[in-house]
Amino acid sequence: MPKGPTHGRLAIEFSPPAWLVKLWGSELGWDTTRELLAANQNAAPTCLRVPLDQNRESVIESLLEQNIAARAGEFSSRAIRLDGPLGAVRADPNFANLIPQSEASLLVAELMAAKSGEAIADLCAAPGGKTELLREGVGPGGLVVATDKAPSGLLRLQGRGLSPLARCDAAHPPFPAESFDAVLVDAPCSGLGTLRGHPEIRWRREPRDLAKLARKQGDILNGGASLVRSGGRMVYATCTFVREENEAVVQRFLAEHPEFCLEPANEILEAGMHAGVTRNGFLETSPLGGGLDGFFAARLRR
Ligand SMILES: C[S@@+](CC[C@H](N)C(=O)[O-])C[C@H]1O[C@@H](n2cnc3c(N)ncnc32)[C@H](O)[C@@H]1O
Repeated sequence: MPKGPTHGRLAIEFSPPAWLVKLWGSELGWDTTRELLAANQNAAPTCLRVPLDQNRESVIESLLEQNIAARAGEFSSRAIRLDGPLGAVRADPNFANLIPQSEASLLVAELMAAKSGEAIADLCAAPGGKTELLREGVGPGGLVVATDKAPSGLLRLQGRGLSPLARCDAAHPPFPAESFDAVLVDAPCSGLGTLRGHPEIRWRREPRDLAKLARKQGDILNGGASLVRSGGRMVYATCTFVREENEAVVQRFLAEHPEFCLEPANEILEAGMHAGVTRNGFLETSPLGGGLDGFFAARLRR
């Protein structure tokens, strides 16, 4: 075997498709690619969202009293990490209000920083984890319209009691221009940041998907932008590591929309919670940085 990591060696060691190893190798460097491939062999930690009106430390204490190993999430003040499976929590009706949601997903919602009374469009909303957080943020005097293209997605949103709902292609949202304070575009993506939970994705994706997805993401971002009022904001998010779907989509959007600018994520996320998850103004989470899923998000101000 040649000395030092190469895509051939890594492909043998971890069995991902060769194109993905080459892509990550060129974007992240071979050492990081190797660490990432190794980290993706492990299961993601189970993460729970603490209800807004409950104290996280008290909830952790209650879990520990029931011999459920739990600790505070490192990055989101709403997150609890379990050291074991979810089963014991689900079996206890006292913990029915703890919602499973990844810590990276919580951070994306925190980057939106929804405020009381705001009107927000959540354009790719299903199954609705972030919609719930946005609704908490805007409160009873605010509005969160959740849309999705998939009928099955709409049913899932409905099942969680979320409304109002609209079925639409987010590239052409059926709302008046500049009618929202904030828009969330949690875009359809290759999902390559969630390989610990969905290992099969690596085999389902093909290299040609990436350009196709990037075009779709750009179209949806343009659709979302049309809804943002002057002075309002939009968050673009994915759960993937691929530059073509992340920075490249945002850079192209900013070049075509001089009325928008990037707001650095570290200025928005709670102090102390953003260390290690922001770079170049973006939110970038990874199994290598505190064991999070690989999410990307950019906050854009009009
Ligand atoms: C990453 S998921 C969203 C996750 C969700 N925001 C959450 O936190 O639970 C992407 C969603 O986009 C939807 N979608 C895909 N293409 C779309 C389009 N052109 N317009 C609107 N929704 C779309 C998918 O059905 C899927 O539900």
